[in-house]
Amino acid sequence: MDFELTEEQLMIRQAARDFAQRDLIPDVIERDEKALYPASHVKKMAELGFLGMMVSPDYDGGGMDTVSYILAMEEISKVDSSTAVIMSVNNSLVCWGIEEYGTEEQKEKYLKSLARGDKIGAFLLSEPEAGSDATMQRTMAVDKGDHYLLNGTKNWITNASSASVYLVIAQTDPEKKHRGINAFIVEKDTPGISLGPHENKMGMRSSDTHSVMFTDVKVPRENRIAEDGFGFKFAMRTLEGGRLGIAAQALGLASGAFELSVKYAKERKAFGTEICNHQAIAFKLADMATQIEMGRLLCFKAAWLKDQDKPYGIESAMAKLYCADMAMKVTEEAVQIHGGYGYVREYHVERLMRDAKLTQIYEGTSEIQKIVISREVLKD
Ligand code: CAA
Repeated sequence: MDFELTEEQLMIRQAARDFAQRDLIPDVIERDEKALYPASHVKKMAELGFLGMMVSPDYDGGGMDTVSYILAMEEISKVDSSTAVIMSVNNSLVCWGIEEYGTEEQKEKYLKSLARGDKIGAFLLSEPEAGSDATMQRTMAVDKGDHYLLNGTKNWITNASSASVYLVIAQTDPEKKHRGINAFIVEKDTPGISLGPHENKMGMRSSDTHSVMFTDVKVPRENRIAEDGFGFKFAMRTLEGGRLGIAAQALGLASGAFELSVKYAKERKAFGTEICNHQAIAFKLADMATQIEMGRLLCFKAAWLKDQDKPYGIESAMAKLYCADMAMKVTEEAVQIHGGYGYVREYHVERLMRDAKLTQIYEGTSEIQKIVISREVLKD
């Protein structure tokens, strides 16, 4: 078993670390407070090749492996998970889905610009009444021959206003239940698409989240992904990678909070010494470090399996389950270590704690990951 990172992986991690520390830190608190979309930072991520990291160079991507993606996600999420989720959705859900299942024409027309970061993508699965129970799609795509007519509402959509390419999951034949679901590439400027107001979220406030309404939206037939009825499986397969991206995001949130806690504990004095010299604090740091390392190993294992083209859905669910719950615990401990300072904006850790909560909710709640894992454990 080789735990050594390659030269290339180390370089990518360093590039992501430099970007996060130099570009993201200065305005991260203001963007969180004012819920401002990080437009200039997304442009910079595109220049760095972070928006289509794993896409083949044949489609203008970086051709990097999933381990590199995990490393970059961790570094960026240490500082700014709102920017990281924009990167994650574009890479894991949108680019991957089109590269894996799209036609050559779809790849030429959409994947290349998404991989370069000229365009941003969004993944539209959740609905007002279909969050965890993803088979209950109410958005209808009626087959009209050369096009589908799309009607319905999607909720909680990351990148909804900044994206120009939507991957939309919709029902085409309700009688067939999940086997009557399809996935479509929809251009956001198609007539009939409108957005709800910006969601005023507790955390990840600088990523843009809206509901999206479709009213008689014409989607060309050639924009359907894969064969008729494949949409649910497409969503499930795509979410396997998405969940790994969110696991890495949670890992980054935890390691960011940990690094700030170590620094603070070495500087802050109480009872005549730096607080790191008190076991009450030192033991917390030991637990945090151990939990973070466990999460990192789960992420690497799932990423390695994916890079070997082996099944990794269970491992990615485990990584997401563990890392999201762990990030919640670790960021909460970080606030505790910082005491009163932890509860105010300038010290970052309260934001990391607010952000961590979302990793237990989106791309499948922690409970959904347990469904995926327990079914595997219990199968004959
Ligand atoms: N790969 C391929 N096929 C899969 C699969 C996978 N990982 N998982 C399930 N399937 C297939 C099954 O084999 C089955 O196919 P057949 O009927 O042909 O045998 C079919 O899909 C239905 O599977 P299930 O019976 O297991 O489906 P279910 O209704 O019990 O649901 C679930 C399973 C895991 C709970 C699923 O509904 C789920 O993942 N829900 C959560 C959805 C989710 O993550 N939403 C997040 C929204 S996206 C987001 O948050 C993005 C963002 O903006 C950040």
